Amino acid sequence: MELQPVRWEGNSLFVLDQRFLPEEEVWLECKTWKDVAEAIRNMAVRGAPLIGIAAAYGLALAQRQGENVKFAYEELSKTRPTGVNLAFALERTINSSDFLEEAQKIHREERERNEKIGKHGVTLLKNRGNIMTLCNTGSLATAGIGTALGVIRTAFRMGMLNEAIVLETRPRLQGAKLTAWELQKDEIPFRIITDGAAAYYMKTKSAELIVTGADCIAANGDTANKIGTYALAIQASYHNIPFVVAAPSSTIDSRKHSGDEIPIEERGVEEVMNILHSSKIKGNVWNPAFDVTPAHLISHIVTENGIYSHPYDFRHVYSTQGV
Ligand code: MRU
Repeated sequence: MELQPVRWEGNSLFVLDQRFLPEEEVWLECKTWKDVAEAIRNMAVRGAPLIGIAAAYGLALAQRQGENVKFAYEELSKTRPTGVNLAFALERTINSSDFLEEAQKIHREERERNEKIGKHGVTLLKNRGNIMTLCNTGSLATAGIGTALGVIRTAFRMGMLNEAIVLETRPRLQGAKLTAWELQKDEIPFRIITDGAAAYYMKTKSAELIVTGADCIAANGDTANKIGTYALAIQASYHNIPFVVAAPSSTIDSRKHSGDEIPIEERGVEEVMNILHSSKIKGNVWNPAFDVTPAHLISHIVTENGIYSHPYDFRHVYSTQGV
C-alpha cells in the first residue's frame, strides 16, 4: 500500500510534516481545526488534493468539538487560494450530515481516482522512455499513487519507463526533496535536474512525455500549477514533446471560464532568499507559488474519466464531487 501522509486516529488528524522531508519523518498531531489550518498554511501538508482532504478532516474536528463550523469553513477556505480541491472538499463536507464520514469518503475517492489517472495516462506513451515532471504530485500530495507521479509509477510497473526526470522545483524544492524521496523508496529510476536545465534536456536528450499535476483547471482548460509549469509547456511545444496535465476531476472548476479568473498565491521572500545563505542581498522578491498554462499549450488533460485533448470544454462540469 502506498504511503499515507494523513491519518485519522483517536480524535485527531495526524499529518506527515512535509517541511522536514526527506531528512526526518515527523508526524504532526492536529487536535483542532485551527491546527489543520496552520498545517496547510505553513505547508506541513501540501498538494491540491491532499489540502482538500486535510481541510475536510479539519471541518470534522470543528463539528465534533462543537465549534462554529461556518467560521471554521471560512478560515480553512482562505489557507491557500489557488488549489480548488480545498474549496470543493470544504463545500462537500459542510453540506453533509456527518463531516468525519464525508472527509473519509473524500479521502478514499481521491485515492481511487489516482489509480484510474495512472491507467489512462500511460496510454499516451508511444515508446518506453524518459518522463519529465515538476513539483510533487505523488502520495504526499494526493494520498494515493499520485496524479502525474501516478502516471510515472504506472509506466514503471508496465516496463515503459526508462527514468523519471525530476525538476528540482524552486523555490521549495518539492521535486528534489519530495518526488525524489518517493521514487527512491519505490526503487524507480530518476534523475534530478535544475529547473533551468529542462529546455536543454529536451534538446539534447530525449523525453517521451512531460507530465505535471494541476491546482485548478478552468472550463477552457487553462491550468494553474506549480510555478515553472508554464515555462515547461512552452519548452515542450518548441521541442514537439507532448505536454500532459494529470489531475482528478475534483481539480476542474468550470465556474472559472479561463485561467484569468484563478487566484495565484504569492508567498514570502524567505522561500526565495534562504538558499543564498547570505544576509548581504536585501533586494525585493516576487514569489508566485503557481502560474497559469494556457490551454493551447496542453496536449492532453487526463482525469480519472479519461483523456481530453485540446480544445477543452469543461463547462458542463460543475459539481463539488468532481466530474
Ligand atoms: O505549493 P504546493 O507544493 O502545494 O504545490 C503543489 C503543486 O503545484 C502540484 O502540482 C499540485 O498541487 C497537484 S498535486 C497532485
